[in-house]
Amino acid sequence: MAAFNLQTCARPNILTLQPYVCARDDYKDDGTNTLLDANENAYGPPIAPEGATSAEAAGPGIDLLGLHRYPDPHQIELKQALCNLRNTHLHTPKLLTPQNVSLGVGSDESIDAMLRCFCRPSIDRILVCPPTYGMYSVSAHINDVGLVKIPLLPAPGFQINVPAVLDALTNEPNIKLVYLTSPGNPTGSSLSKDDIQKLLTHPTWNGVVIIDEAYVDFASPFSPSLAEWVTEWPNLVVMQTLSKGFGLAGIRLGAIFTSPEIALLLNSLQAPYNIPSPTAALATYALSDKGLGIMRQNVENLLKQRERMIKAMEKIPGVGRLRGGLDSNFLLYEMLNKEGQPDNKTALAVYERLAEQKGVVVRFRGKEHGCEGCLRITVGTGEETGKFLEAVEKTLAEVRG
Ligand SMILES: Cc1ncc(COP(=O)(O)O)c(C=O)c1O
Repeated sequence: MAAFNLQTCARPNILTLQPYVCARDDYKDDGTNTLLDANENAYGPPIAPEGATSAEAAGPGIDLLGLHRYPDPHQIELKQALCNLRNTHLHTPKLLTPQNVSLGVGSDESIDAMLRCFCRPSIDRILVCPPTYGMYSVSAHINDVGLVKIPLLPAPGFQINVPAVLDALTNEPNIKLVYLTSPGNPTGSSLSKDDIQKLLTHPTWNGVVIIDEAYVDFASPFSPSLAEWVTEWPNLVVMQTLSKGFGLAGIRLGAIFTSPEIALLLNSLQAPYNIPSPTAALATYALSDKGLGIMRQNVENLLKQRERMIKAMEKIPGVGRLRGGLDSNFLLYEMLNKEGQPDNKTALAVYERLAEQKGVVVRFRGKEHGCEGCLRITVGTGEETGKFLEAVEKTLAEVRG
C-alpha cells in the first residue's frame, strides 16, 4: 500500500480524461422538462406490445415507453442498492457509497476497463494465477498487454503462491494489475484474505490487486465478499456480476467496487450510458428485498443439488477426486482411466460423449494448470442434476469399457 500511487500507476492519458457530460446532468429528466437535447425519437420504439403503457404491463420495473430515452448515465440508485448488499461490516466499519462503484456490461467489460485504465499497450503487464478465468488473458492480448503467470498452489487448496507472487511483483518490471479469482474458476476455492493482504501491503510494488468475485454469492459464510474492504485499501478493486448468484447473465451487469478515485477514472473511460435501462430496472428489482429473497432461495436450492451431486459422484466408478473447493455453483472432478489415474483422454471422451450422445454439456478443463483429467460441471436444477448423474455414470462405463 505504501508504494501505490494512482497518479503514476494509471495511464497518463486516462488520468486527464473528463467524464462525458450531457445536458441532463444540468436539467433532469423529471417529467417536467421537454427533452429536445439528445436526438432521441419522441414517438418511441416499435416494440411496445398492446397495452404495455405501464411498468406492470411491460414486466418487473420496465417501462417500455421510456426506452426511447437514453438511460441514466450515473445509476446512483442501482449503485446504492449494490452498496447496501455489500456493506456487511465484516471487514471494516466504513461504508461503501455510490462513489465507490463503476458499472460495466458484465464483468467481462470491467476486466477490459481495468486494463485500459492502467496498462500501457506493449509496455505494461498483468499477473494472473492459473488455473483461472480465461478472459484476463484474452483481454490482455486484445490490449497488447503482457502476462506474468504464477500458478496457484496445487489442488485441492488452489491458494495463492504468495512468496512467488511477491517475488514477481518485486523483480518483474511493469506489472500493473494482479487478477485474482475468489471463489476461483475452475477451482471453486475462495482465496485466503491474509494472503491477499500480503499482496496489498507489498512495500515497493505500484499496482492494483483485483479480486474477481463472480461466484461470491455461492461462497460459504466463512468467505464473505471483500467488496467493502476497498474502503480500506486504495490499491484494491473487487469485481462482481449479476450473471451467477443472481441468475441474470442475460442482462449483462457487472460492478466494480473500488476507491472513489479509481471509480472516477473507470467512469470517465466508459462509453456514456453504458448500462441499458432494462438492465438497470431488472437489476434494481433483483436487489430489492423481494429480489434478494428469491435469489437466496435459488442459491439454497442449487447448493442442495450440489450436495446431492457430491454424494452421487462418490459412488460412480471412474469418477476421481473432487478438486478445489465448495464455494461455487460448479464442481471440478477428475475422470479416471482404467488404471485409476486422472486422464485427459478419458475426460475428453466423456465430455464429447456426454454432449453428443446424451445432450449434456459440461466443460473439459484438463488442459488447465493442475487440472489433469478434470471436467467442470455446473450444478443445475434437480431435473438437470438427475439427467447429468445418469448420463455420466453410463458414459464413464462406455468409455472405460
Ligand atoms: C471468474 C469469472 N469472472 C467473470 C465472468 C464473466 O462475468 P460476466 O457474465 O459478468 O461478464 C465469469 C463467467 O463465467 C467468470 O467465471
